[in-house]
Amino acid sequence: MSNQSFYLTTPIYYVNDVPHIGHSYTTIAADVLARYMRTKGRDVFFLTGTDEHGQKIEKAALASGSTPTQFVDTVVAKFKTLWTALHVSNDDFIRTTDEHHCRRVKKIFQRIFENGDIYLGEYEGWYCIPCESFWIESQLDEKKCPECKRGVEKVREKNYFFKLSKYRDALLEFYDKHPHFIQPESRRNELLHRIKSQIDDISVSRSAVEWGVQVPMDPGHTIYVWIDALLNYITALGYDDDMQRFERHWPASVHIIGKEILWFHGVIWPAILMSLKIALPDKIFAHGWWTIEGQKISKSLGNAIDPTTIIQLYGVDAYRFFLLREVPFGLDGNFSYTALVQRINSDLGNDLGNLLQRTLTMIEKYFAGVIPPVADAETVLGVTARKIYEKVDHEMGNLQFSKALEAIWEYIGSANKFIEEKKPWSLAKTSETRPQLAMVLGLLAMAIRDISVLIYPFMPTTSIEIQWQLGLLENKESPCLELHRGFKEGTVVRKGKSLFPRIELSQTQ
Ligand code: MSP
Repeated sequence: MSNQSFYLTTPIYYVNDVPHIGHSYTTIAADVLARYMRTKGRDVFFLTGTDEHGQKIEKAALASGSTPTQFVDTVVAKFKTLWTALHVSNDDFIRTTDEHHCRRVKKIFQRIFENGDIYLGEYEGWYCIPCESFWIESQLDEKKCPECKRGVEKVREKNYFFKLSKYRDALLEFYDKHPHFIQPESRRNELLHRIKSQIDDISVSRSAVEWGVQVPMDPGHTIYVWIDALLNYITALGYDDDMQRFERHWPASVHIIGKEILWFHGVIWPAILMSLKIALPDKIFAHGWWTIEGQKISKSLGNAIDPTTIIQLYGVDAYRFFLLREVPFGLDGNFSYTALVQRINSDLGNDLGNLLQRTLTMIEKYFAGVIPPVADAETVLGVTARKIYEKVDHEMGNLQFSKALEAIWEYIGSANKFIEEKKPWSLAKTSETRPQLAMVLGLLAMAIRDISVLIYPFMPTTSIEIQWQLGLLENKESPCLELHRGFKEGTVVRKGKSLFPRIELSQTQ
């Protein structure tokens, strides 16, 4: 157990539109990691929030006929409601419109300026409003934004610039010394390639955008939305007027982001931190993108499924499990109802649900519901268990959620195989084999208890339900989170409803 800090963040989401599967993916992944690290005794601080300034939001507010403030308040409420529905356990929720954030952003901007890293210049180039990104002509892809392939607009304005190019060598040296700073490795390589081929100073203010934080030394400008946004990772911790809180949590253990915003996080953000002389985060993990039934999630295609619809049909835990089990973290994935239903029926229903159901039925039938006590013997299951804990810990440390789940399912598979091999129903036929029967069912109960602990970060409600049915809990509020523990003598099971009843494909969308 270690009470060492573990600070993790998601990107702060734009509030020009309601949240969809993609946003929920990042937030659920972060939640799983946060819950896991809490079970390990880490001093976790899990931050998420919303990015509310800039031209894109200004435009969306205008189009909806409301003021930016009214507009953002409405959308932020939708994000918060969704995170609650998805059982996201964030410790804080930062809004870039929060007074404390704006105040701190101004101060930090002023400091970078005083350090000599911000200067006034003129920007002439292209701007992609959906990505809130500046591009030079040669970066465009057939006159479109190279990132999102949408139209760009010509911009010529007096802007403040940040001396990003000054940090090129320091950044390269840092990546070299910290080979795991950016993950996965393929993304790191892409980034290194890009930084080596070209790195220019960047605009950090807009003179044509009103909806933002004013540049302290020149109120005719607003701070570029990406600078305002990136700083959330330190303003939320109190930088720089609550240094005690800041120092308790910083540096971040991991910033979890989507692959499309790696340049901002892997290059611009570290350079800003270098300018401020603040330590860099330990890790930036850029995950892949989800498509829906093979298509990019987009407003214009109208395919952005509301996660609330999915969880109403299939439950929160099945959704959380599916997102992290289906695709290795770091790769792209495709959401389809067919794949979701298959996972529910096979992994959750057949493997996990049946293991619990069969074991509890036999404990009720042969031992009147009382879990037979067993010593922690070096049984096949005990040995498997220890290997699995190590594997899960290793994969979770590397944010390889699907591999951690694979390992847990290996354990579930071993427990199901143990039933087939030991055939408790045969052992129940004679009184001579009753001690073996007790041992088999006692060990199975212990394995299921372990499994409930291991799945807790992924499926908290299911984990608690299993522990409830095992008779471990007095109430459903406080789960048991310790591995490899026995049961109190005389624990009586409470076999209940099946965890994941079979779903027919026709019941789906
Ligand atoms: N506001 C910026 C981030 C600033 S962080 C300092 C932003 N916001 S966003 O609303 O566009 O959210 C982008 C993030 O949402 C992605 O990086 C990713 O985490 C998540 N996703 C959005 N669409 C996604 C998919 N289709 N698939 C997976 N995740 C995606 O960028």
